[in-house]
Amino acid sequence: MPKVFIIFYSLYHHVYTLAQHIQKGLESQGVEVELYQVPETLDDAILEKMHAPAKPDVPIITADKLKEADGFLLGLPTRFGIFPAQIKSFLDSTGGLWSTGALAGKFAGTFFSTASQHGGQETTAMTAITYFAHHGINYVPFGFANPHLFDNTEVVGGSPYGAGTVANGDGSRQPSEKELDIAETQGSNFAKLLLTFEKGQSIVTKQEKKTSPVTENGNGQASVQPEIKSKAKKVREESKADKKNKCFCM
Ligand SMILES: Cc1cc2nc3c(=O)[nH]c(=O)nc-3n(C[C@H](O)[C@H](O)[C@H](O)COP(=O)(O)O)c2cc1C
Repeated sequence: MPKVFIIFYSLYHHVYTLAQHIQKGLESQGVEVELYQVPETLDDAILEKMHAPAKPDVPIITADKLKEADGFLLGLPTRFGIFPAQIKSFLDSTGGLWSTGALAGKFAGTFFSTASQHGGQETTAMTAITYFAHHGINYVPFGFANPHLFDNTEVVGGSPYGAGTVANGDGSRQPSEKELDIAETQGSNFAKLLLTFEKGQSIVTKQEKKTSPVTENGNGQASVQPEIKSKAKKVREESKADKKNKCFCM
């Protein structure tokens, strides 16, 4: 059975609430789900000044743990139109995983929260995509998979990039029924995709991981795979010979 990690940062619990409903959607399809939050980078005095409530009772993720999952759903409360420094700090700690291609071929999706309707829900998701691209992780968009995304009669967070909520500047608005329904659909659709890949025997944990040209050399350092090295040497030699044949100046 595929395993999905929901990994989030949530200062005022709006993203956490969405995460719980995404979990419900994932579990409705029978996949294994684990909830994690990223480490906080602000100290207690700052958090107090920001009127932050106690953190959700959810374990803290470590980079190495990511290897265990087939897919991730990242919960991103917007900061100036992009995802917060706490998420960046965690993602920046995945360099060792990148160097071994450990996350290549896995799947990821995004969900988010902003204070206002126009505060950057889509830019927040889009700016996270560079991490997936560099790791070779498959980004799973949501599309317009839930009809509430077409509803213009009231404020409805979310977009083709995932579920979303609109929290108000003071955090007073809680995720609406429609936003929670969208979150459940995202979880359920993400699970269905992973189950499809599992049926086709191509889910990442069962694949041979040869997608990265770099491997670990045993001392924790990255080195280029020998077969890639010898291929590169051959191409260099061929191109040298080719240049010699075509050179008119000698
Ligand atoms: C420093 C800072 C920057 C923020 N920038 C934005 C922003 O660009 N757009 C927006 O709509 N909301 C912005 N917000 C509001 C947060 O996105 C909002 O508090 C968050 O989505 C609530 O989610 P949470 O309860 O899970 O923390 C900002 C909040 C802080 C503290």
